[in-house]
Amino acid sequence: MKKNQLNRREVIRMGAGALVAAGAAKITVLEPLKLWASPRPVPPSDVVRFGIVGTGVEGCSLLKATLSVPGVECVAAADLYDRRHESAKEVLGGKDIETTRNFVRLLDRKDIDAIIVATPDHWHRKIVVDACAAGKDVYCEKPMSHSVPDGLAMVDAVARYKRMCTVGSQRVSSILYAKAKEIWDSGRLGMVDTIQAAWDRNTDSGAWVYPIDPNANVKTLDWNAWVGTKTERPFDPVLFFRWRCFKDFGAGLAGDLFVHLLSGVHYVTGTNQPPDRAQSSGGLYFYKDGREFPDLLWTMFDYPKFQLVLRCNHNNSEEGEFFGFYGKNGTMTIQGSTLRFKPQGPHEVVEDYSILGWAKKDRDEYLAKWAKNHPKPAPGAWKTDVEEEVYVPPAGYSDHVDHLANFFDSVRTRKPVVENEIFGHNTAIGCHLSNTAYFTRKAAVWDATSKVIKT
Ligand SMILES: NC(=O)c1ccc[n+]([C@@H]2O[C@H](COP(=O)([O-])OP(=O)(O)OC[C@H]3O[C@@H](n4cnc5c(N)ncnc54)[C@H](O)[C@@H]3O)[C@@H](O)[C@H]2O)c1
Repeated sequence: MKKNQLNRREVIRMGAGALVAAGAAKITVLEPLKLWASPRPVPPSDVVRFGIVGTGVEGCSLLKATLSVPGVECVAAADLYDRRHESAKEVLGGKDIETTRNFVRLLDRKDIDAIIVATPDHWHRKIVVDACAAGKDVYCEKPMSHSVPDGLAMVDAVARYKRMCTVGSQRVSSILYAKAKEIWDSGRLGMVDTIQAAWDRNTDSGAWVYPIDPNANVKTLDWNAWVGTKTERPFDPVLFFRWRCFKDFGAGLAGDLFVHLLSGVHYVTGTNQPPDRAQSSGGLYFYKDGREFPDLLWTMFDYPKFQLVLRCNHNNSEEGEFFGFYGKNGTMTIQGSTLRFKPQGPHEVVEDYSILGWAKKDRDEYLAKWAKNHPKPAPGAWKTDVEEEVYVPPAGYSDHVDHLANFFDSVRTRKPVVENEIFGHNTAIGCHLSNTAYFTRKAAVWDATSKVIKT
């Protein structure tokens, strides 16, 4: 057995990946990236100092992940909710960083190289544009934009101020998706016209019914600043904690989950453009709690070379997170953290069905000719039950850590980031197309010349 190839039982014992099917699959545990797996000492002059804006669920998760990235240090955190200043410090093991409600204080600090933006979507544009103008590099959470004009303004700011910007779709740095890309690029799938992906959940938390922290009120958080300039609203903790359900702040299933699926597909297939057209369907079937987005969403996207069908469902989780790339010569799937590639043999078979209506003489003549032109293949050459390949990341693998490590490495070295603002903008446009098609009940088309969505 080659290095890194284990049998199924060994992999399960290691806890690496959720393997479902049996069979004599060749299972390979992927090598982690060197960048963070073998941290080398970083000289103090090379340490990247960063501030974070938004230390809620994702902000704290990112802060925790940065603790595994060599050569980076969080020195300040901004959040409009005071309790989240404590959370940030706790994640950092009680480190006494500057905390503030006002993110501009972070931009004014000369010792801060980079800013992580982990606020709800409606705040991404202002913070990213201001951070770029202040000379900071930016890691902005997904979906990059809350609208197409927001995305255009962010792309423009990154270029104008010559900053490094990456978007928080961590699959783009994942060793599992890198393997999928390698298989795609090798051409082993043959022509692929169909890609499907899904992200299904069946819990209240999965449907963003997040608990309401009783400490949140107009004294402990800056409600007017949180709401932003778009709209005025009386204080409503449901909006604050479950903002993904509401159009002024989030983008529903498309912005929360389709964006990850789109990023994964774009990365694997080497696509860096928005889909040409989106047609959506779905509905709000269970979570009738005042939300503005559906709890089931399907979108069919047209790309120049393939069709992509995405689904997110809050009411059944059987499929979990799934990608399927269906090619003429093979199928590649990613289910959770397990990647499979299964070749399909050639399909040329003798016609024994559609010639049933022929006269026997004609049939025999046809079959004789066919046999002459198709000499028997060598034994095994046309096998359709070809052994599949299975790849899993090592136990405890985190693509979050890799994604942050890649970003900070680019900040330090000025090498291009793995997922830049153009990539993030294009995948976010896919989300906006999906929602536009759902709410207008019409096909939504991306007009690349005028850079607008048309219906
Ligand atoms: N990459 C991923 O896997 C992933 C996972 C979850 C969330 N996200 C993204 O991360 C972002 C944050 O999501 P979340 O679940 O952490 O939200 P959250 O509501 O838990 O936290 C957001 C925090 O931002 C703060 N905030 C809002 N506006 C601010 C401002 N102007 N200045 C300072 N602080 C401000 C809020 O007070 C809040 O504490 C979203 O864009 C979301 O889509 C990404």
